[in-house]
Amino acid sequence: MEEYIQFVKDQINFVPDFAIVIGSGLSTMLDKVKVIKRIPYREIPNYPISTVKGHKGELIFGILSGKNVLIFNGRVHFYEGYTMRQVTAGVRLAAGLGTKNIIITNAAGAVNKALKAGDIMLIEDHINFIFADNPLRGEKGTERFVDMINAYDRDFLKKAVEVASRKGIDIRKGIYCAVAGPNYETMAELRFMNRIGIDAVGMSTVPEVIVARFLKMRVLGISCITDSIFNEGDISHTKVLNIANQCGKRIAELIESFLKEV
Ligand code: HPA
Repeated sequence: MEEYIQFVKDQINFVPDFAIVIGSGLSTMLDKVKVIKRIPYREIPNYPISTVKGHKGELIFGILSGKNVLIFNGRVHFYEGYTMRQVTAGVRLAAGLGTKNIIITNAAGAVNKALKAGDIMLIEDHINFIFADNPLRGEKGTERFVDMINAYDRDFLKKAVEVASRKGIDIRKGIYCAVAGPNYETMAELRFMNRIGIDAVGMSTVPEVIVARFLKMRVLGISCITDSIFNEGDISHTKVLNIANQCGKRIAELIESFLKEV
């Protein structure tokens, strides 16, 4: 077992029903959580720490809508120079504690012209454009040949759509594409992505989903659309964070209601 899993097990006796990964600027969603324990990432041996503005770094164990949750307040990205194994440490930790379900959120740019900044998109499927590496590279045995058909749990998606419509939360559904980053896309890349049916692009989530499926977890993926090159022109990290803050509140409401019913 990885050292960081044993360390956390020694700190708290808690089996999360759901792990929740909080993306860039989305930590407003923490307001509703009844916190049981916080562990800063820096206290956990061999646990990666984010270098990105807008990303905090702590594990939060708590209760949300009657469910035991383990929240990752801040994640690390491949573009920060971390290995794929480090990027997916949180997912391995969650699974190591016995977690069977994971909700992964992120900030993403719109590729589909119908999407605009501030939209919430449930991830139906993904395309992996991080060609350089894979979080399962080096795993042994046939388990590494992970089935990625319906990687995003169909029942979770259905439930999230249902809950959103009942709560009057506007949502879209679509295909998320992961790039390595840290540069944003060229216009030619965006046009290409648009043509092949990608709806949104970002720099996270896909490695985590691959490892989550490897570890037999059920996945719900939610993107906050923070910018649309086609609609708004220029993009900056500050703009991304501002929009994510607004999105965060609605995503929080969606997750809160989702957890009540699932
Ligand atoms: N591209 C890649 N990642 C992103 C974007 C984008 O336009 N917006 C937020 N994360």
